[in-house]
Amino acid sequence: MAHYWGVHAVRVTAWKPGVVRVVASATDPLKAPQIPKQRGAGRLLRVVVGALETGAQWVIDLREVPHWLIVGATRSGKSTLINALVAGLARQPVALVGIDCKGGMELSLYGPRLSALATSRAQTVKLLGALVDLTLDRMTVCRAARVRNVWGLPEDERPVPIVVIVDELAELFLVASRHEKEEAQAASTALIRLAQLGAALGVFLVVAGQRVGSDLGPGVTALRAQLAGRVCHRVADPGTAEMALGDLNPDALHAAQSITPEQAGTAVLASADGWDRARSHLVSEAEAERIAAESAHLTPYVPELVTAGGGTSAGDVPSVRLERLDGDENE
Ligand SMILES: Nc1ncnc2c1ncn2[C@@H]1O[C@H](COP(=O)(O)OP(=O)(O)O)[C@@H](O)[C@H]1O
Ligand SMILES: [Mg+2]
Repeated sequence: MAHYWGVHAVRVTAWKPGVVRVVASATDPLKAPQIPKQRGAGRLLRVVVGALETGAQWVIDLREVPHWLIVGATRSGKSTLINALVAGLARQPVALVGIDCKGGMELSLYGPRLSALATSRAQTVKLLGALVDLTLDRMTVCRAARVRNVWGLPEDERPVPIVVIVDELAELFLVASRHEKEEAQAASTALIRLAQLGAALGVFLVVAGQRVGSDLGPGVTALRAQLAGRVCHRVADPGTAEMALGDLNPDALHAAQSITPEQAGTAVLASADGWDRARSHLVSEAEAERIAAESAHLTPYVPELVTAGGGTSAGDVPSVRLERLDGDENE
């Protein structure tokens, strides 16, 4: 006689040719994933951001998968996931750079811990340009030292890792005028370049948006192809889930499309290894703001990105820090 007790979910996936993976969970680990007690800064560029449906930790490790695309409708959990990621990275020797064309509404929370923040398309173009230059400089350094990536450099010569966080990609790419279109194109070209070169040179991208369709311009499709880590929250249309999860398992698509508004923070993750359901830790804005302020002293000074007069104190207005990037040309 069969006993049907306490099985929350059973999932069968064709894991690799000839192997089927059966996952049965007794309870729903995604109901309210417990935030583990903070034990030090953890391994560089690796953060536990939530729980997987299997009960395992949901880890984002930028050294394993350097660039990420996070999609989801409004209030689906994108910012909360970024909060969880930043909360972890903030405690590590890592430079955080924000690009937030909704006027900095989201990312300015982390202000004291950011090495640079761009809040308009024009600032973004300059900041991304500076990042591309910095990346190319790092490439020259690596070539001279005959190493393939920054990790091959001696520790005391290794440049600080930089994580570039873009919130609401559409704000960057949705344009009206011709001038705006040129800016958007410049931004997308620079992002693609950073994605291509960055991983080896210690520059990582985390790009979030509600939509990532080709209506945002041809650059978006090329950029998407460079972002190998995918997180799909609840989406407003099936097309966005398809864009985010690509040609992966149809089950992954179905799982993404089944996320309800009540399950904010729940997402389907996909990478070359397969897919999983997961839920981020609920790290609130207040919490993220507190952690950013507490770890402000760890903010690396990246002279290429910041004006000499910009300083790094908590009270800084982000636009002041972008003086050098802003200062030239005709604005
Ligand atoms: N992992 C989570 N666990 C529980 N609630 C969450 C989670 N993520 C998001 N939420 C809830 O959903 C709300 C909206 O999430 P948010 O991250 O701001 O969405 P988005 O940035 O996609 O608009 C949050 O204020 C929170 O109440
Ligand atoms: Mg948000």
